[in-house]
Amino acid sequence: MSNQSTPPAITVLGIETSCDETAVAVYHSQRGLLSHTLYSQVALHAEFGGVVPELASRDHIRKLIPLIQQALQQADQPKIDAIAYTKGPGLIGALLAGGAIARSLAFAWDVPAIGVHHMEGHLLAPMLEPRPPAFPFIALLVSGGHTMIIRVDGIGRYKLLGDTLDDAAGEAFDKTAKMLGLGYPGGPIVSKLALQGDETRYHFPRPMVDRPGLDMSFSGLKTFSLNTWQKAQQQGDDTDQTRADICRAFELAVADTLTIKCKRALEQEGLNRLVVSGGVSANREIRYKLDQLMTKRKGQAFYPRLEFCTDNGAMIAYAGAQRLLAGEHNDLDFAAKARWPLDSLHPPCHSQP
Ligand code: KG4
Ligand code: ZN
Repeated sequence: MSNQSTPPAITVLGIETSCDETAVAVYHSQRGLLSHTLYSQVALHAEFGGVVPELASRDHIRKLIPLIQQALQQADQPKIDAIAYTKGPGLIGALLAGGAIARSLAFAWDVPAIGVHHMEGHLLAPMLEPRPPAFPFIALLVSGGHTMIIRVDGIGRYKLLGDTLDDAAGEAFDKTAKMLGLGYPGGPIVSKLALQGDETRYHFPRPMVDRPGLDMSFSGLKTFSLNTWQKAQQQGDDTDQTRADICRAFELAVADTLTIKCKRALEQEGLNRLVVSGGVSANREIRYKLDQLMTKRKGQAFYPRLEFCTDNGAMIAYAGAQRLLAGEHNDLDFAAKARWPLDSLHPPCHSQP
């Protein structure tokens, strides 16, 4: 007997070009992830201490076709049924590069294409793991551009509970690294150096935890790092050990702040499942603190595997597949959106603008 409610299996090519990673993946809705490839532009931007948008766009164009060929070859799947690409938010030129190639391929192959919200991709990335979370859950999305706490009741059913009022957590990591002369991107460097830090030497504030609500602020922490470093310089104590001690104090302050806010969100919403995603969710201390919180609450924390915490094509292919399976796709013309609030999304439907 056929099961009417089971949609047909589809194979989706996912393309991510919102910032400084060119990433491609092939996802099969029943067999799971078939392949994923990525080219990081970190070396290209390193000498400038941050992403140079024009260079990013040019490099996406250069790398995308070879990466797509590689992903298709590795997937060993003769037929692609649809293409999902990152429509926003992100660097406009970088988004246009990926969107134009995605749309052209979709036209040439006569398959539908869908523009995916980058943060929805991050949010759904833990669904690619062997034990995916069930809805509803609280999601902490922490990346270079966003720090959000969201109640998630289903795909496209997002209620923004808390946001950063200034810098994103990842941005604060990156700026702290830059001030200490540590290079870019700062998150991985700061967290590696923090391992050698003495956590009793400095104590950084936990911003906004004394105030009610779920909003956050990280620019003050970055300034605290700067002041601490400048003081050490004046005292002739600007050593590698001081750098490590500052990194440790900074990382602990971010981890504690995020943990306090997540606890508050779980209590407020009466939920006990926490999804943590985005580049900063690769941080060991943040994971440790959040795991501790969830163990204490007898709940569960869900993360993407480390390589899918940062930008990747798999999360875009997965998110696109879910919307395509529900019958959604966009018209032939396409738009790239530099800004695009996550809570403006709707559940999948047949005609999305
Ligand atoms: O999600 P992502 O790859 O790109 C955006 O959508 O922004 O996140 C990149 C951010 C950067 O700010 C980077 O410094 C941070 O994630 N990051 C980390 C770690 N790995 C990456 N921050 C803290 N600890 C890490 N281990
Ligand atoms: Zn991202």
